[in-house]
Amino acid sequence: MKQRIEPLRQSSTLVKHVLLGLITFLGLFCLYFGSFLIPISPPLHRDVLFDQDGVDPFFGSTLVNEDDSIDKLPVQDFDSLLPKSIPIPVRWPASRDEVWKANIPHTHLAQEKSDQHWMVVNGEKINFPGGGTHFHDGADKYIIALARMLKFPGEILSNGGNIRTVLDVGCGVASFGAYLLSHDIIAMSLAPNDVHENQIQFALERGIPSTLGVLGTKRLPYPSRSFELAHCSRCRIDWLQRDGILLLELDRLLRPGGYFVYSSPEAYAQDPENRKIWNSMYSLLRRMCWRVVSKKDQTVIWAKPLSNSCYLKRESGSRPPLCSSDDNPDESWNISMKTCITPFSPKMHKEKASGLLPWPQRLTASPSRLEDIGVSSEEFQADTSTWRFRVIEYWNLMKPILQKNTLRNVMDMNSNLGGFAAALNDKDVWVMNVTPIRFASELKIIYDRGLIGTVHDW
Ligand SMILES: *[C@@H]1O[C@H](CO)[C@@H](O)[C@H](O)[C@H]1NC(C)=O
Repeated sequence: MKQRIEPLRQSSTLVKHVLLGLITFLGLFCLYFGSFLIPISPPLHRDVLFDQDGVDPFFGSTLVNEDDSIDKLPVQDFDSLLPKSIPIPVRWPASRDEVWKANIPHTHLAQEKSDQHWMVVNGEKINFPGGGTHFHDGADKYIIALARMLKFPGEILSNGGNIRTVLDVGCGVASFGAYLLSHDIIAMSLAPNDVHENQIQFALERGIPSTLGVLGTKRLPYPSRSFELAHCSRCRIDWLQRDGILLLELDRLLRPGGYFVYSSPEAYAQDPENRKIWNSMYSLLRRMCWRVVSKKDQTVIWAKPLSNSCYLKRESGSRPPLCSSDDNPDESWNISMKTCITPFSPKMHKEKASGLLPWPQRLTASPSRLEDIGVSSEEFQADTSTWRFRVIEYWNLMKPILQKNTLRNVMDMNSNLGGFAAALNDKDVWVMNVTPIRFASELKIIYDRGLIGTVHDW
């Protein structure tokens, strides 16, 4: 099917997936049997590991007299090497709201953020009340409020499937992303590994799409025009630094007409210091041709232009300049950010939009950027159906060891055109598509399908 492109890749992709499957299986196997060796601290561990009737959560069969088997194993030998207790993670969707404390022992984050209602330590568990720094009334209400600010019909943020991929910079424990999922929106939630420890560990334990990341000096590992909306609440980022280079990076990542939802004192506070910052930011964003779509309470929503028209009308010598034509805006691995505006391709300029179908049609429709990577629509469709078939097979093979919601966070280590993730769309999982750098140009297809992913050098 994908003969014309790279016949070898097809089989190497398959081998990689089989290997990945094996590794995952061995991992689960070790985790499961390894857990017998751990000195258990009941009732926590037993409750999670065994159903009330003593049925094995992974293998489905009734457990043999487990106390005996524990006695027979050489526990002492491994005792010192293993963590005290590794509860099986709470399953999605319950994990959105609670996880085992033992699995992420960074409770000082809960103490530090207690005034912000991110998370609450509750006995053996950590609860996430669905709030966040900026959404005291709960994330769902906040999401509706954003849709109202944007005047979307029915106050639905996905706006008929036109808002699908979101970038949340400084996501904390990713509660915004967690609640967006039920609105049919998927967010790539970023947080750095900083004084607050690894907040992404919480997000992943909860089963929420997220990754380590920070707006620093290098481009984020995503192609241009990947996101319909960027979000930064209680944003502590200095957007004016280095001639607005961080805003220019967001500009690169947003689709035509993409939104930037932002809340920070300079957007609403009336003191002279914050007014000054706001005025400078406003002036910079105007020069980047962004406009304020809505401003309410503490939140401002900006929109990026739909075409190059505004850029072409700028006076010559305007700053920031347009990027030179030899800059490849989709190149993102280990590339320094640039202080320039990424203009639209002539095609996008003409269409005045990304040309994508709404979600979920875009999942299986051939995106126009296939042309950029030299793949035909037929090849794309063939790839989609091959993966649909394979995933049915995988699922049948795994059925005996899977129970409802055993799987949640999935990584495709060689994501190709995203066919594997697309085929998993009806399962309650999310897929981190990873494109090896030599195929990095394929990542934009993943995003155009309404999926998320990243580049990595493996
Ligand atoms: C990134 O690029 C720089 C300079 O081109 C190089 O020295 C460095 O090793 C690269 N880092 C990675 C992670 O590839």
